[in-house]
Amino acid sequence: MSSGICIFKLLVTVNLLTFLECKPIDLSYVFDNETMYWGNNRRFNHPVVFDGPLKDGNETIVPYLSIYEYEAAEHGGTHMDAPIHFAHGKWTLDVIPIENFIGDAVVVNISIKASTNRSAQLTVQDLKDWESVYGAIPNDCIMFVFTGYGKYWLNNEKYFGTNTTNPSLYTFPGIHEDAARWLVQNRKIKGIGIDTPSIDYGKSRNYISHQILLGENIYALENVAYLDQLPATGYVVYCLPMKIGGGSGGPTRIIAMKKESGGTNDANVNSLQRFIVMLLTCYYIFF
Ligand SMILES: *[C@@H]1O[C@H](CO)[C@@H](O)[C@H](O)[C@H]1NC(C)=O
Ligand SMILES: *[C@@H]1O[C@H](CO)[C@@H](O)[C@H](O)[C@H]1NC(C)=O
Ligand SMILES: *[C@@H]1O[C@H](CO)[C@@H](O)[C@H](O)[C@H]1NC(C)=O
Ligand SMILES: *[C@@H]1O[C@H](CO)[C@@H](O)[C@H](O)[C@H]1NC(C)=O
Ligand SMILES: [Zn+2]
Repeated sequence: MSSGICIFKLLVTVNLLTFLECKPIDLSYVFDNETMYWGNNRRFNHPVVFDGPLKDGNETIVPYLSIYEYEAAEHGGTHMDAPIHFAHGKWTLDVIPIENFIGDAVVVNISIKASTNRSAQLTVQDLKDWESVYGAIPNDCIMFVFTGYGKYWLNNEKYFGTNTTNPSLYTFPGIHEDAARWLVQNRKIKGIGIDTPSIDYGKSRNYISHQILLGENIYALENVAYLDQLPATGYVVYCLPMKIGGGSGGPTRIIAMKKESGGTNDANVNSLQRFIVMLLTCYYIFF
């Protein structure tokens, strides 16, 4: 075998491995009858409408058919807060520009202090510390605050800080108003997410960080799942809420994909990579 072919085969393997590494990360919880909602908000209800063979008299027309209905409050499970949620006149869920749903993911890890303080908050200092390691928070990114409280998901007492459904008893970490203000004044993010029920900490009564961020048409993502799997940088995230007309928020599927090494979040880079893999695979098979 010529060394040229060897190199090609090596390239194929490397490309395939890179391709496999690109397995997306799911950052959404499943919606079912255990999904946690704020206070006494309506839970996810998913009754069966039809399940079984579709018949016309005795004749089976279709061997199997499954249909459900669903209802739920907007703000439960993994969901997006549209800016209008706390800012009159700002975007509803259906009018947020779709390019805002895609961006570089940035993860700020405050899990150490949150592990010993249920009222810990992301501070301006946390943001500056992050920047001293990774550089300036990039424009148009989607920022995630990792508190570690995702591990309490489905444990009402640990997640909300109370067994009751009384929000005035809630305790969980969030984003300090000064950090929210610093972000809107000094950086340009598209959205901000957290692995707790709210971007404002549990004790907040005026949801001031919501007011500040949503007031600048920055959306929020709450109950974000599996944030422990998302590295601080190097991933592109897609946050796709249900397109509810006039919605103040709604269920959202969030996935993150590793960026190509040295690449951008440009989808064309992915297609180019796929094309090269395909080309080299053909070469591999036929020569
Ligand atoms: C929740 O759904 C599961 C699976 O569909 C079912 O077994 C369980 O009884 C339901 N629980 C409640 C409280 O409705
Ligand atoms: C917990 O964090 C809050 C900041 O939100 C701070 O005011 C409070 O002093 C902290 N408590 C402890 C015990 O460190
Ligand atoms: C909360 O509920 C759990 C499970 O029902 C129970 O084990 C726990 O003792 C309760 N905690 C409080 C503070 O009531
Ligand atoms: C968060 O930071 C702590 C302390 O540096 C570290 O032990 C932990 O692995 C980090 N977690 C994630 C998911 O980055
Ligand atoms: Zn919400």
